[in-house]
Amino acid sequence: MSLFNVYPLFDITPVSAKDVFVFDANGTKYLDLYGGHAVISIGHSHPEYIKNISEQVSKLGFYSNSIKNPLQDALATKLKALSGSDNYQLFLCNSGAEANENALKLASFHTNKSRVLAFENGFHGRTSAAVAATDNAKIIAPINAQQKVDFVKLGDLEAVEAVLKKNETCAIIVECIQGVGGLDESSSEFYKGLAQLSANYNVILIADEVQSGFGRTGDFFAFQKHKITPDIISIAKGMGNGFPIGGVLIHSKIKASFGLLGTTFGGNHLACAASLSVMNVIENENLIANARTISNYFKEMAAGLPKLKKLKGRGLMLGLEFDFPIAPLRKALIQKHHIFTGSSKDPKVLRILPPLTIQKEHIDLFFKALHQEL
Ligand SMILES: Cc1ncc(COP(=O)(O)O)c(C=O)c1O
Repeated sequence: MSLFNVYPLFDITPVSAKDVFVFDANGTKYLDLYGGHAVISIGHSHPEYIKNISEQVSKLGFYSNSIKNPLQDALATKLKALSGSDNYQLFLCNSGAEANENALKLASFHTNKSRVLAFENGFHGRTSAAVAATDNAKIIAPINAQQKVDFVKLGDLEAVEAVLKKNETCAIIVECIQGVGGLDESSSEFYKGLAQLSANYNVILIADEVQSGFGRTGDFFAFQKHKITPDIISIAKGMGNGFPIGGVLIHSKIKASFGLLGTTFGGNHLACAASLSVMNVIENENLIANARTISNYFKEMAAGLPKLKKLKGRGLMLGLEFDFPIAPLRKALIQKHHIFTGSSKDPKVLRILPPLTIQKEHIDLFFKALHQEL
């Protein structure tokens, strides 16, 4: 059987990885400034992560959500402490799209309304409601088009209010920093305004932190810079460092009832062990502070770069906007310099999403390569 051919692939086959490096079968070493698409938070093959997952699988890898699982409680407690998110309840699932799907569904249950307000250039995943709220006609199938979504320009509060006035909207879903879209972020005034409008019109504000969460931006959550309190926060990617896990933090004003949400695999023992380990390492190795330090260094290094139009993003969720399409540069970085980077919907933006363990010497390697190519 052949694979369903949906991914254009680079001709590289990684077989092992350690911290910020990935190795192929020939022993070629690649610097990972892409983090497997913002997934690798604590570095590849972290010893504590390997130990915790191995120990857990040797005891109990999985049982269903019909029994008590203290690891889920431990995860919720740790997440509250590390992220400073008071007044939330946690529902665990398996991916970012699933987190957003559950978030949107909860918003609709809670408000008894069905329209969603989303932003141009946003990305929220590929399941039914999540993909409909994603501004990319190419990935929305006719079966998804039944969802009713209004798209508004990021930053346009007047347009948001004009939609909310119709009183049909259950949720606003927003990435405070757009990942796939190309690292755009609006002002604190805008995000505060969104929170206020959501409260005024009985709309659930969903912060999609799937890519920006777990310390990537130099805060635990990207929205924290803007001092807002979303009603729901969706998480995944860096949460498991590669182990599939996602979740939604749900404000206590939204009430649970048996059967409202559910999943077979979500919150299983192994996934919880992985995420607990991720949070311990983030805390013990001060990785959020490291994200800020290295980000500042990256910005200093970028200042002298030729052909750079703008440096976008925060922390270790960065974009270099050039005055030319970056596809050939990205290819040269991989093939000649053995450095992984990311692309975005904007063809001129090179995305940088390294493990949060990255050090200045690795940034130096990247800029040396960039100067050679530019
Ligand atoms: C902001 C955001 N939300 C949701 C998703 C979907 O996550 P997943 O691919 O785990 O379903 C992504 C994936 O890139 C994302 O960047």
